[in-house]
Formats: sequence, structure tokens, C-alpha cells
Amino acid sequence: MTTRVAPATSETIEEAARILRRGGLVAFPTETVYGLGAIATNDRAVAAIFETKGRPSSNPLIVHVQDRAAATSLGVWSEKADALARAFWPGPLTLVLPRADGAPISHLATAGFPTIALRVPAEPTALALLAATLLPVAAPSANRSGMVSPTTAGHVLDGLGEAVDAILDGGPSRVGVESTVVDMAGPAPSILRPGGVGADEIAAVIGPLILPGEGASAAPGQLASHYAPAKPVRLNVLEPASGEAYVAFGPPPPQSPKFLFQLSRMGDLKEAARNLFAQLRAADASSAPSIAVAPIPDHGIGLAINDRLRRAAYRG
Ligand code: TXA
Ligand code: MG
Repeated sequence: MTTRVAPATSETIEEAARILRRGGLVAFPTETVYGLGAIATNDRAVAAIFETKGRPSSNPLIVHVQDRAAATSLGVWSEKADALARAFWPGPLTLVLPRADGAPISHLATAGFPTIALRVPAEPTALALLAATLLPVAAPSANRSGMVSPTTAGHVLDGLGEAVDAILDGGPSRVGVESTVVDMAGPAPSILRPGGVGADEIAAVIGPLILPGEGASAAPGQLASHYAPAKPVRLNVLEPASGEAYVAFGPPPPQSPKFLFQLSRMGDLKEAARNLFAQLRAADASSAPSIAVAPIPDHGIGLAINDRLRRAAYRG
């Protein structure tokens, strides 16, 4: 079967929901990155996600639901977790909660952990799809494990192609980096993965929390090498070597590199996040032998950008 890429309309969303309910895999847009969805209560469909991505079965998936009410019975909610859901859902925030007894979610999806990661995405196509399936949808980013995440339907097709039953095209993802994963199941709230919601915004709602690198353990899937282009990547470069692909932030260097990929000419971090994965892919596809990336300020969504760049540059 050839994979169909369909512009998201009410008809194609209904069809995608039918494919999901029959146990199929559907890639769909979210505001962060494209997700590879399967019904989260269906063991076989969830197993197909791991197989298609080449993902280790020890790395749990995020369960997506259409609203806070649909998440109520899946996790054990604290007051602070509830405050975060009210403040940031729908949106790029994933809450890790103790898994509720009797939650009908596949134990493959949660990788056998006693916790569950929950998210309500903001992208209208994703919400319409979740409303049409009437079931929770497990969805990692729609890329092969370890590769650069997809922010367009074309990226999904390039990476997964025939292995997906359908791809809904909702245009480029608006945020461009994945959701912030916050652990609300441990002794103190901690950020497992920086993402679309800033740590400062989260702290403003629930008070101090443990940041990555401050003793918080990373999410199980946060391997040192991830988001990795095929070419070597150097970071914090102000003057690229001649012939190197340059991923710029702010005004380009005066000697104007031959292969220039702009994250944000204006030096806007949100715009840079939106462009990050597409520009890394484009730099990787250029004929330059290696990639140099400009320094990115380490605050707000810049924390998420730098987290992804460090993993893109890591060669173990
Ligand atoms: O923005 C996003 O979060 C996207 C879109 C599609 O929603 N999804 C996404 O999924 O990035 P994925 O699988 O690429 O990353 C999920 C991260 C992984 O690092 C995983 O280890 C972590 O969330 N995670 C999932 N369940 C967890 C749990 N129970 N405890 C701790 N970390 C968990
Ligand atoms: Mg991913």
C-alpha cells in the first residue's frame, strides 16, 4: 500500500480516525512536531509504533487526549498537576503522573513504568482527530528513532514513508520543538525535557522545580545522541569554516557563508524554534561536509533549542 498524504479536512480526519480505530498508524500534525499515532489501548497498534520507529521498547510514549476531562481517569492527579493542566492545556506541555489503577492504556505504551505521560495538543487537526477517535492516542514524534524530528508532512514521508497508513498534512508545526515533559510523579516537580513551554512559565504556576542538569533525571528517551543529522555538527560557532554549512541566528557573519541556513534573522527565539528542525535537515541535505551552528541564548524556548542542538552534535 502506498502511504497517502492528505491535507487535513473534516473528511480526511474522519478517515484517519477510522484507520486508527482499525489498529493502523496515522501521522498527524501537532503544534510542536508531527506525531506517529496509534490507539493507546491497543497493544498491537502500539507495538507497531515501536517497530516502525526502531524505538527501544524501554522508552515510553506520550498519550494524547482531547481535553483535561479525558485525562482524569488515566493518571493520579495532584493539585499542582491540575494547576499545570489548567494553565497550559491544550498546549506543548506533557505531564508525567502516577498511572491510575485500571487505566486501559497498553503497558507497552508506558514501557511498563508505573507512570503515564499525558498531553492535550493545541493544533486543531490533532484535537479534531482525538475527538473523532474517542480514544487516547499514543504518539511519539514521527521520525525514525534518533533522527531529526519532523515539522512537516514531507519530513514524515521522507523518514517513514510506506510504513505509515496515512499522513495528515496540516502545514508546518507552529512551535517546532517538542513539548516540555514535567515529572509530577516524583518527590518534587522536575523538568525531564525542556520544550515548548518555558521553565519560568511553569515555575510561575507551581513554584520552584528541578531543572535539567540540576539533578533531575532525564526522560528515559533522552539519549545523549538524538535529533542527529548524518553530518558532524559543531556548536556555538561565530565564524564558520569555508565550505561549512552555517545555521545562523541573527545577522549572518560578514563573509556570508556559501551554505547559509537562517533560524531567525531578527534573533527571535520562537521563530528559531519553529525553523530549527527544517533548517538542520536542509543543512544536512546540502553538499557541505559539516554543519556549524551559531550560539543560541539559553533562556525561554532557547533552553529547548540548545538541548536539541547538544544531542544533534553529540558523537558517542
Ligand atoms: O511534542 C511532543 O511531545 C511530541 C508530539 C507528537 O506530541 N511527542 C514527542 O514524543 O516528542 P517522543 O516519544 O518523541 O518523546 C516523548 C518523551 C520521551 O523522552 C519519553 O522518554 C518521555 O517523553 N516519556 C514518555 N513517558 C514517560 C514517562 N512515563 N516517564 C518519563 N518520561 C516519559
Ligand atoms: Mg522524539
